[in-house]
Amino acid sequence: MLNLFGRRRKSASADGQNEAPQGELPRHVAIIMDGNGRWAHRRGLPRIAGHHAGMKTVREVIRACDDFGIPCLTLYAFSTENWKRPEGEVEYLMRLPEEFFRSEIDELVDRGVQVRFIGDTTKLPTHTQETVRRTLERTKTNDGMTVNFALNYGGRAEVVEAVRAVAREVAAGVLDADALDEDKFAIHLSTHGLPDPDLVIRTSGEVRLSNFLIWQAAYAELWFTDVLWPDFDRDQLRQALTEYTGRMRRFGGLK
Ligand code: IPE
Ligand code: IPE
Ligand code: MG
Repeated sequence: MLNLFGRRRKSASADGQNEAPQGELPRHVAIIMDGNGRWAHRRGLPRIAGHHAGMKTVREVIRACDDFGIPCLTLYAFSTENWKRPEGEVEYLMRLPEEFFRSEIDELVDRGVQVRFIGDTTKLPTHTQETVRRTLERTKTNDGMTVNFALNYGGRAEVVEAVRAVAREVAAGVLDADALDEDKFAIHLSTHGLPDPDLVIRTSGEVRLSNFLIWQAAYAELWFTDVLWPDFDRDQLRQALTEYTGRMRRFGGLK
C-alpha cells in the first residue's frame, strides 16, 4: 500500500508487530516526549537517567512509525523554555543527540530516514551543532520517512521569526502586505514542505501544548496518555493511531 509520500508500507512481520492499524493513518505524527524526570524520580534515580531511558523510546517510536508507513514524525526534544533547567541537566540533554545518533545513524540510513531539525540550532553548544550538521549530511539524500527533531524549538519564536521574514519581504518590495495569506506565511516556518501534524501525542499526563507547533497543530487531533515517555512503546503508539483512525475530522465543515 502506498502512502502519500509514495512509500510502501513495510510487510507485516511474523508476530504482527509491524502491522499498522487499519484505516487512514496520519501523514504526520508529532510527539511531546514528557515524563522522563518523573520516571527517574519514581526509581530513585537522577533526572538524567530518565532522559537516557527516553532515548530507547525514541528509537522504538521511529522504528514503529517507519514500519507502519507514517511519512513524517516530529519529536519535541528540547524547548526554548527548557534552558531554565539546572545547568547540569541542560548540559546532559545537549550531549544526548551525540550519543543517540552515534548508535542509531546506521539504522536510520538503512531505513532511508531523512533527519531534520527544527528550532534555533545556532544557539546550541558547538558540539551539539556539530552532531546536527553531521546527521543532516548523512541523511540528506534519503527519501524515506522524515524525522524532525525539535531542538531549542518554540512555537512562538518560530512564528516571530516568520513574521520577521515576511516584514523583510514587504520592506524590500518583494511582497505586497495585502497579498499575504496563510500559505505564503507558512513558507517561512521551519516545517515548510511537510504536512501539518494530523496527530499530536503527549505522554506523562500533562494536557497542554507547551509551545509546540502552535501554528501547525491548529487542526491536529490531540491524544494524551498518563504513560511516562520512557515507558511509551509501539503498543501505545498503535493505540493512539487506532483512536485517531476512529475520529471524525470535520475541519469546521459537516460530515
Ligand atoms: C521530557 O521530560 C524531556 C524534556 C523536556 C527535555 P521531563 O524532563 O520534562 O520530565 P518531567 O516532566 O520532569 O517528568
Ligand atoms: C515540553 O515538556 C518540552 C519537551 C518535551 C521537550 P516540558 O516538561 O518542558 O513542559 P512543561 O514545563 O511541563 O510545560
Ligand atoms: Mg516535563
